[in-house]
Amino acid sequence: MKESLQKIEQALQQELTSCATTSDLLTLRGKYLGKNAEISTLMKSMKDVPAEQRPAMGALIHQTKQALELMLNQAELALKQKELNEKLAKETIDVTIEKPYKEKGSIHPINLELMRLEKILTGMGFSQIDGPEMDYDTYNFELVNVPQDHPARDMQDSLFITKDILLRTQTSNAQPRAMQNIKPPFKVFCAGRVFRKDEIDATHTPAFYQVEGIYIDKKVSMADLKSTITQILKEYLGEGTKTRFRASYFPFTEPSVEVDAVCNVCNGKGCPACKYAGGYEILGAGMIHPKVLELNGIDSNEYSGYAFGFGFDRFPKMRFKIPYAKYMFEHDIRFLKQFK
Ligand code: PHE
Repeated sequence: MKESLQKIEQALQQELTSCATTSDLLTLRGKYLGKNAEISTLMKSMKDVPAEQRPAMGALIHQTKQALELMLNQAELALKQKELNEKLAKETIDVTIEKPYKEKGSIHPINLELMRLEKILTGMGFSQIDGPEMDYDTYNFELVNVPQDHPARDMQDSLFITKDILLRTQTSNAQPRAMQNIKPPFKVFCAGRVFRKDEIDATHTPAFYQVEGIYIDKKVSMADLKSTITQILKEYLGEGTKTRFRASYFPFTEPSVEVDAVCNVCNGKGCPACKYAGGYEILGAGMIHPKVLELNGIDSNEYSGYAFGFGFDRFPKMRFKIPYAKYMFEHDIRFLKQFK
């Protein structure tokens, strides 16, 4: 008996040397400790052993069983460690390895220019707000003093989705939203796409960009409007930029102005560079109409404000000498990747 037990131990030892995986080990565990294992058969045969030898035999078998278990457990531990090491080695991430070449994206020319203007506006204390591109007629028109039958609606050929919802024709839809949601005094701007029915040509597209600025406080005056806009344009277009304020009309501002940058070639006299206009129009602006303040819950006796709206697309066009406005909306990769 003693001999058989020793043989079992030796046999396991032998088999363990060639056992390479934890699943092989599981098979060995079954073979040496399972129901049909040799040691189990020996245990069963204890009943045939004379009673006086039984305790010693029992102890011997028990010892062997424990020894087998110990060997198997140790082997399992070692194999698990080995397998873990192998897995870790295989899954190592080489952060220095080169990725297969993938074309890098570039920043759209409109965004490049917008980022520049946004930085200037933020530096002057304007916070950025967002306005929906698809909006209620109410916000786009009614609450900025353009009622249903107002002739100014003809100025902007709108793209309606339903009777009450349209693609905003102007970022001025941010005005009522700001006034209804922020307690004055506040200084905000909203940059984004606007939409109007337009035939595509060199300077027109049915979608284009505007940047709207709004300032509301006690005693805001035309002088504030003029100095702020002059400063913005100097910072944005260059220190030498001369501006020209012309009287104009917008339903939501009174008085209203249009601001031109004076042509830096002819200094306003008119020349081929400015197509004899002496400059080019940059933005519309004015003192917010008291009715607009009232319509949006701001007491016009206590507060006043100004608003301005840039048509924005001309700036990337000028800076990057882009000949057709539509290039900026076609998403042609050959065009886009020229801008960094
Ligand atoms: N919303 C006007 C436009 O689209 C521009 C503007 C904005 C004028 C704010 C005055 C004040 O033409």
